[in-house]
Amino acid sequence: MVSERAGAVEPFIAMDVLERASRMEDVVHLEVGEPDFDPPEAVFDAAVDSLRAGNTDYTVARGKPELRRAIADRYDRVYGVTVDPERVVVTPGSSPGLLLAVATLLDPGDELLLTDPGYACYPNFVRAVSGTVETVPLRAEAGFQPRVADFEAAMSEDTAGLLVNSPANPTGAVMDGDALGAVVAAAEREGVTVVADEIYHGLSYDATEHTVLEYTDDAFVLDGFSKRYGMTGWRLGWMVVPDWAVDAVNRLAQNLLICAPNFIQDAGVVALRGEDGDRLDDIRETYRERRDVLLEAVERWGLDAGYTPEGAYYLLVDVGGLPGDSVDVADAFLEEAGVAVTPGVDFGDRASDCVRLSYATDTGSVKEGVRRIEKLLATVER
Ligand SMILES: Cc1ncc(COP(=O)(O)O)c(C=O)c1O
Repeated sequence: MVSERAGAVEPFIAMDVLERASRMEDVVHLEVGEPDFDPPEAVFDAAVDSLRAGNTDYTVARGKPELRRAIADRYDRVYGVTVDPERVVVTPGSSPGLLLAVATLLDPGDELLLTDPGYACYPNFVRAVSGTVETVPLRAEAGFQPRVADFEAAMSEDTAGLLVNSPANPTGAVMDGDALGAVVAAAEREGVTVVADEIYHGLSYDATEHTVLEYTDDAFVLDGFSKRYGMTGWRLGWMVVPDWAVDAVNRLAQNLLICAPNFIQDAGVVALRGEDGDRLDDIRETYRERRDVLLEAVERWGLDAGYTPEGAYYLLVDVGGLPGDSVDVADAFLEEAGVAVTPGVDFGDRASDCVRLSYATDTGSVKEGVRRIEKLLATVER
């Protein structure tokens, strides 16, 4: 019999939509968050060379020292923050890092504060370790920026941690530095640990990104290679953990994960050391163009985004004015227009009237998706 814990974990609807859409022909994929670019050639070469050199055995659980050093160096180079490599733990993607973070932080019943809307999987990580979830609201009219006062009001003696995600999924909102600093200060006042998911760092257009480590060492930071380097299926990520958690996280990693793949870790060093320069500038520019294509389209459709995303590659659009709920709208887009989008219910109650459009796919497909939705909406009575 399935445990209560496992029973409480809900399906990831974006993946369900992807599964349905991949059984259909000629579908434009605006549902998944997979970058359409590959990592640089040197990263492939490093992986293949390392594989051929026989680096196929286990590594130490927290990761190869050279990779941990390269990760620590990146914080210095990009943010001017000193990170001791001893605090870096390499994981097979950032998702296992999140699992280790909640397993370290939460006793059964302890609360993690999340934002609504927020990434669909967060509450399920918490449920998987028998923690509880409380949410703070985000509002389109405030650009989906979290308010410190909302976090303050939501923190209670049960709150063990609060999670911030910037640039954010599903909104693309980027938190400004002052707000992030203020949330960290409020959490510290209440003895609450901050968990920062920084997986979309590097993909901001109009905003300056700040790592939470600029404001505190007492935080769990999750990051990785999936989004910025286009390495989703390589499964490589990392966490930076507070001093007091290093030993516990290492023991959990040893037992639950063993290690991230050996030769992929070598490729990770090359991705970090070769970073980022013009290539990332070009990628950002491409995403910005696609975002603008979608923003203009949404306005033509008479729908409302109500904000301008500044990072990641998502746009959350209110479809409350269309017939049916957001699941019906997503169904109609898929079945009648051949465009897969994710219904907002995946991301929390406050996104339940919305659909999320991902512009991680190539520009031609984004434009084709727009054309198809436009054609469908022209036939819909409102
Ligand atoms: C906000 C957020 N965090 C984490 C992840 C998982 O990333 P990874 O491939 O590093 O496990 C995703 C994937 O879409 C995401 O959107």
